[in-house]
Amino acid sequence: MMKHGKGLLMGFTLATVMAAAPTLANDDHSHGAADHANLKDERKALNLASSERAMILMEMRQFLNGIQIMTDALSRDDLKTVAQATKPLGNLATHDVPDSLKAKLPKEFKQLAFAVHSGFDQLAMDAESLGDTKHTQKQLGGILRNCVSCHSMFQIHAMPEKLK
Ligand code: HEC
Repeated sequence: MMKHGKGLLMGFTLATVMAAAPTLANDDHSHGAADHANLKDERKALNLASSERAMILMEMRQFLNGIQIMTDALSRDDLKTVAQATKPLGNLATHDVPDSLKAKLPKEFKQLAFAVHSGFDQLAMDAESLGDTKHTQKQLGGILRNCVSCHSMFQIHAMPEKLK
């Protein structure tokens, strides 16, 4: 569906999303124990079936796993391995997500997920065609910013299966 001409639009919507996200940069890491005792999780809760939650969390662990392989390979300028590890994290991966789950996810969530998957697609293509470690590291940094942004906004609560 959204194959072409998405570049500018995504740029705009993402900027909007990021502006709305709580800024982590303000965190000065100077909280005492008392602050932590009162810490409230203010991230928006997505109420999903526990199988849906498990599916999303598994995808997350695949992200982290891929990034581990990428950073290791980047330290050796091994862009072939980077491309290999990155490809399964692109938009292809989203084809397995059932429509029933997509329907429950807020627009901002889907935009950030799309940005991350598309970022990995671009990174894999460039790693193969350019073979430029610095360029790939910069792209990875950009992707990680979207991971951080989504994590600052959302948490997932599992509903009992019978209530879904
Ligand atoms: C569209 C939103 C979104 C994006 C983008 C996103 N995440 Fe997540 N991620 C979440 C949510 C929501 C959780 C669950 C947090 C909670 O419930 O406390 C999560 C959880 C995780 C977990 C914990 C998994 C587990 O088994 O508990 C890891 C690791 C993770 N994300 C890594 C990443 C990495 C790496 C990226 C970027 C490549 C990324 N995520 C991008 C939303 C996102």
